[in-house]
Amino acid sequence: MEAETRIRLADPWFDDDEIEDVVAVLKSGRLVQGSHVAAFEKQVAEYLGVPEAVACANGTASLHLALLAIRLEPGDEVILPDFTFPSAANMIDAVGGVPVPVDIEPGTFNLDPSHVTEHITSRTRAIMPVHQFGLMADLPAIGAIAEEHGLLVFEDAACALGATGPGGEPGSASSGPRGIGQASAMACISFHPRKVITTAEGGMIVSRSAVFAERLRRLRNHGAHRERGRMTFDEIGFNYRMTEVQGALGTGQMRKLGAIIARRRELACVYDAELAGLPLRRPAVPEGYGHVYQSYVVVLDPALDRDRIVEALDHAGVESTLGAYALHMQPYYRRKYGLDASRFPNSRMAFRHSLALPIHQHMTETDARTVANVLRGVLTRA
Ligand SMILES: Cc1ncc(COP(=O)(O)O)c(C=O)c1O
Repeated sequence: MEAETRIRLADPWFDDDEIEDVVAVLKSGRLVQGSHVAAFEKQVAEYLGVPEAVACANGTASLHLALLAIRLEPGDEVILPDFTFPSAANMIDAVGGVPVPVDIEPGTFNLDPSHVTEHITSRTRAIMPVHQFGLMADLPAIGAIAEEHGLLVFEDAACALGATGPGGEPGSASSGPRGIGQASAMACISFHPRKVITTAEGGMIVSRSAVFAERLRRLRNHGAHRERGRMTFDEIGFNYRMTEVQGALGTGQMRKLGAIIARRRELACVYDAELAGLPLRRPAVPEGYGHVYQSYVVVLDPALDRDRIVEALDHAGVESTLGAYALHMQPYYRRKYGLDASRFPNSRMAFRHSLALPIHQHMTETDARTVANVLRGVLTRA
């Protein structure tokens, strides 16, 4: 028998103000990329302390635009973690580039900087760390390697709005690194419903470079620029504009970002305490890092069958899923790039045994305890 109460993996939080804002947009008839999108861009830029923010249709579009903005040439290589959602690798491949996956650190799930240099070739153009599940990758180490080899760094920050590395809060002028977009060419954010804040679908690129921003704005709007009320098409672009409905949702979500992150951290704290002693590894947060827990992901003991655990949790009313994907194990990447599986032991382990547990604003600490108890029971019986 199915359990009656379900604790969902993710559950976006929209309040009456946001719903009214959306209705007002619909009534206004101004539906695409207007004042609400501009206000949302300004809010994110100010929050992160980064001068430029360019909103677009979704996180994948933001990655596509960023790769076009750096003018990635066919055959150019981009180093990224093997364990991730494949969106960034897909876009690198789609523009003719070569994704070069590198293994991850087992505790943080992030790109292991100690393996990056051995993958740099004469064709390497960029390194793209992914801040997995809302924890920033080691940007100081990655940035140092990039500088030594003359490479660009741009961040897949899909899950990491509000995350910080050592040194300060997003937007702070304190020395040392900080939030996304402050120590790279560009950072790409997603506002998909499972992300920290959501606009249903949505994305944004933040950058310190006005040159990149200008090109991103042109590429998201068919490659056109406006002159005396008329569009001129300088190059091939896309329709990756954000709608005003998304923009209105985004401004409301930004007002709540602090509360959303605080709640996620409280729930993570409960999980950390309640899951201690179970046959699993809890997420590591290195000293000085601020995790935003877009997902709370554990790695189960390899003797356990993760997919069966997901089924058993589901049966008991708790929604869960795998953490992310190992690129080298996906048929397309295996076929096209023939990657040597022995290079990715940590990614393979994370792909096979990671488990994302519910975490969202509507959950109470009691809910988190319930999830932990249900998991404890399931693991005991497994
Ligand atoms: C790490 C990562 N990059 C990129 C994306 C793509 O974002 P979107 O779903 O908004 O296209 C996702 C979303 O699932 C993601 O988790």
